[in-house]
This record gives sequence, structure tokens and C-alpha cells, in this order.
Amino acid sequence: MIVGPNAAGKTNLLEAAFLFSAGKSFRAGRESEMVTWGESTARVEAAFAGGSRHKAALTLDASGRVIRKSFELDGKAKPTKELRRRFPMVLFSAEDGRLVDGSPGRRRRALDLVVGQGSAAYQDALSKYNRALASRNRLLEQIAAREASEAELDVWDVQLAEAGTQVVDGRAEYVGSSADPLRNAYDALTKRSGHAAGRLSVAYEPVADFEALLRSRRGQDIAIGTTSAGPHRDDWSILLDGRALASFGSGGEFRSAALAWRLAEAAWLAAVTEREPILLLDDVFSELDHARAKSLQDALPDGQSVITTPEPSEVPGALREGAEVIEIEPKERVDA
Ligand SMILES: Nc1ncnc2c1ncn2[C@@H]1O[C@H](COP(=O)(O)OP(=O)(O)OP(=O)(O)O)[C@@H](O)[C@H]1O
Ligand SMILES: [Mg+2]
Repeated sequence: MIVGPNAAGKTNLLEAAFLFSAGKSFRAGRESEMVTWGESTARVEAAFAGGSRHKAALTLDASGRVIRKSFELDGKAKPTKELRRRFPMVLFSAEDGRLVDGSPGRRRRALDLVVGQGSAAYQDALSKYNRALASRNRLLEQIAAREASEAELDVWDVQLAEAGTQVVDGRAEYVGSSADPLRNAYDALTKRSGHAAGRLSVAYEPVADFEALLRSRRGQDIAIGTTSAGPHRDDWSILLDGRALASFGSGGEFRSAALAWRLAEAAWLAAVTEREPILLLDDVFSELDHARAKSLQDALPDGQSVITTPEPSEVPGALREGAEVIEIEPKERVDA
């Protein structure tokens, strides 16, 4: 249990740990924010039970972009894909309720992070897709500026369709195989609330024939200078008894649904990696009523949990008992 006031660095600490499971930050977008302002490098070192020691370093260029990420395991340099399945982690954030009603990008990111942790093939397909997408978009701009011909799109369309189909299949497979854990987790989380909570499910309807879609949208894509459809625009939604929770649920229901989603992530990762994922619970108890906090405590799988909180009394007693407590204080701000 990591205890400290607001801005002490609790989320930073979990973000650093998560780097060893996903190879990237769980916070959206700005990976460069993992490096202290004014510095060009960030280093993280971790010792895992079982004795392995891990190091990571992030280096920024002069304009503040991440240009290098390197990982070391027991003194040897390793590509990220070798780490992912070794130390699977699931992050539970106090903001997770927004998975239900937030932006599609937030949902895509969550899905990509978990599937990528469990499957190196998925991560590869996603990287290929993103590279092909960037190339295709550059080409679309060149075509619009009459600096390239439309025929040059063919080669990118083939690559994009191939990688994109793998991405979509990986997502669909995940959604399919996490259906039972998701429903069960929601039942477990809400059973103390005293009313019938309903059946939680995820709806994900990817495009059936991505290559055909790319072809049919080509004219439009050239006109707007970007690829208008594909896995990078995908979305999924959480349903309760078949209806979109985002359109009628309460904040508490959003949070319970998101907790169920995270517990399902843990179940899936445990199955595919054959390891107990480490659970990182970032200040999640303060937002839950007593019954839900207790249910979450009961629903947490075996294995290690790291819990952050500004207020230890909000963490259910049974989790506090026997927990090692680390107190952290805000660092004084050093003004450059
Ligand atoms: N790149 C950066 N360089 C320097 N400081 C940063 C950087 N990014 C974030 N910070 C600061 O680090 C501090 C710790 O942030 P963090 O989110 O870890 O706090 P926290 O303990 O989780 O707080 P809370 O309880 O409010 O969630 C904050 O003051 C934040 O403004
Ligand atoms: Mg925080």
C-alpha cells in the first residue's frame, strides 16, 4: 500500500511499474511526461519477487519527443516484447468509469494495452498497422497536392488491410473470450448492493471486409487527406442487459462496470500468460461505497496488489491488514 497526499507521486510510481508490463505509459498520449521537466532521461529500476531485476530508460530529444526506450533484464538488454508476458499488470484507475462514457480513443487504448500485453503478435500487428496508416496518410496528402499518383495507394492498402485485419481479429477474440469473466466479475461486484444488477457485456462490431472498405472510401480519403475508416476509428461499448450503459447508468454503475472490465483483463492475462498479473489499484476505493469496496476486495484474484491512497482508512480493513505500507511525500518543486 502506497500512502501519500495528492501530488506525492503515487500515480507516477504505478506508471513506472506498468512500464515493465506494457512497455509504455498507461496515461494517454504524452509519454514524454514520464521524464521530469527539464531533464532528458528517465530511469526506472525494479526488483521482482523471484529475484529478477529490471531497468528501463527513456530518452528525449531536444524538442521533448521520446527517441529511445530501452529495457534491461538481469543486466541484459531486451526488446519490450519479451517483457510483456513476463510481468503482466492490470491498472485500475479512479478515472476508469470514463471507459464507459468517455472517448472511443480511451476505450481503444485500454483494449490495445491489455491485448498487447498478452500477445506479441497483436502488438506487432498494431505497430505495423500504425506505420502503414501514417504512410498512407502522408501519401493521401501528396496525392491531393498532385505530388503522387493514386495508384501508389495500392501497396499501402494491402499492408493496411492485412495488419488491420489482424488487429480487429485480436480485439474481437479478446472481447469474445472475456465475456464470461466480465459478467461474473460484475455479478460479484454488485451482489452486495441488494438489487438485481443485470448482465454486463461488451459490444464490439468491427468492419467485416476492411480492404473493400478502404477501396470504397478511397475518393473520400483523398479529398480529406486522411484515412477515414479502420481499426484506428474502432469503438466498443459496455452494455447492461443489452442496453448501452453510457446512456443511462449512474456514476457508480460506470465505476462497477469498469472494475469488472479490469478484473476480466486480469483473468484473461492470467490465462494467456500463465502468470498471476500484478494488480495496480490507483486510488480506486475512495470513489466506491462501502458495499462495493468490500465486494472489490473479495473479487481481487490471488497475487500481488499494489494499492495507492491518500487516505488509508478508505481501503477495506482486510486489504490493509498485512499490507506493507510505504509512505511517500511530495518532492519540493525545483524551479528551472
Ligand atoms: N514530467 C513531469 N516533470 C515533473 N513533475 C511532473 C511531471 N509530470 C507530473 N509531474 C508532477 O508530479 C507530481 C506527482 O504526480 P502524481 O500524479 O504521481 O501524484 P499522485 O500522488 O498520484 O496524486 P493524486 O493523489 O492527486 O492522484 C504532481 O505534482 C505532478 O504535477
Ligand atoms: Mg494519482
